[in-house]
Amino acid sequence: MTTEYDFIKACWGRPVDRTPVWLMRQAGRYLPQYMEVRRKCTFLELCKTPELAAEVTIQPIDYLGADAAILFSDILTPVEPMGLKLDFVPGPVFENPVRTQADVDALRIPVMEEDVPYVLETIKILRREFEGRVPLIGFGGAPFTLACYMVEGKGSKDFAQIKRMMYGAPELYAALMEKITEMDRQYLNAQIAAGAQAIQIFDTWGGIVSPLDYEKYILSYTTKLINGLNRDGIPIIHFVKGAGTMLKSVRKAGSDVVGLDWHVNLGEARDILGAETAVQGNLDPTVLYAPKAYIENEVKRILDENAGRPGHIFNLGHGILPTVDPEHAKFMVECVHRLSRK
Ligand code: CP3
Repeated sequence: MTTEYDFIKACWGRPVDRTPVWLMRQAGRYLPQYMEVRRKCTFLELCKTPELAAEVTIQPIDYLGADAAILFSDILTPVEPMGLKLDFVPGPVFENPVRTQADVDALRIPVMEEDVPYVLETIKILRREFEGRVPLIGFGGAPFTLACYMVEGKGSKDFAQIKRMMYGAPELYAALMEKITEMDRQYLNAQIAAGAQAIQIFDTWGGIVSPLDYEKYILSYTTKLINGLNRDGIPIIHFVKGAGTMLKSVRKAGSDVVGLDWHVNLGEARDILGAETAVQGNLDPTVLYAPKAYIENEVKRILDENAGRPGHIFNLGHGILPTVDPEHAKFMVECVHRLSRK
């Protein structure tokens, strides 16, 4: 028997009895039970050990009562077997960033079953573990966000290297983006084949360009990626941070759900996107530092902005921060369930 999960129904824009909720980066350092596992190994070792990755994926489901689980891994996991040396300190660092045509030519497209077997194995463990309880979201980085890390070699404030390549060496940029898009397509399809029940594409840096440049340099690759997924029965969530002024472009990429950050009014964003597109979001992650009464009001405000329209998944507008009190995150989930119940 297949269970009808509220989260999946909401992704398809179908009505539910209460608004489903999960938190981006819901497994992680804000949870003492995560830190306990994490003390025993590095972050990359944790990602590569299916039993441990599964354990920390389950932690926020048990603790928060979230309506969906997200695979514990990282967007950069499949980039390492492309040939880049990866470390986390705790932000990601590549020892050999991609700068030249020779660097792009040297990148290989991993054979997923051989190069990232631990990701697929973690998904299989979690499906057995969660059956009938919560659906499992697989995920990847959008091609542009992956390119940012691969070219910069680490996080960045001005993204000078990727912009230099984008504007000054457009053919090199295109060759890199094509290769990443194909890797991503195979990686996400491997996650679907292993049992992922929804896919979220994280474009954390998609908002660092102008709306015109988003259409010129980013949109076609994300669209190609989404079109290349075996998405029959699998909702695709597309989160572009900082995309408030270019939601119409983001919609063109063709996902089922658009993730919203907290810089937009959720109701206004829905008016722009239209009734066909479900939305996910969009509480400011720092509101979890506020007293509980404040959190409750903010949850209510966002539910009111949605005004009962089907196709809303509650979430933060970006990942939960490591210094948040876990009890406040749990309280937020309770508020969503209580205040949205029909
Ligand atoms: O959501 C989840 O619970 C699943 C796990 C998950 C992680 N990273 C675990 C992680 C997911 C979905 C990601 C996605 C990811 N990774 C993104 C896109 C989402 C976003 O937040 O914008 C990006 C840009 C990355 C790259 C990355 N990985 C960065 C920038 C960092 C350092 C962040 C920091 O807070 O210092 C990481 C490390 C990372 N990924 C951690 C976790 C739990 C912390 C590592 C640790 O335990 O030391």
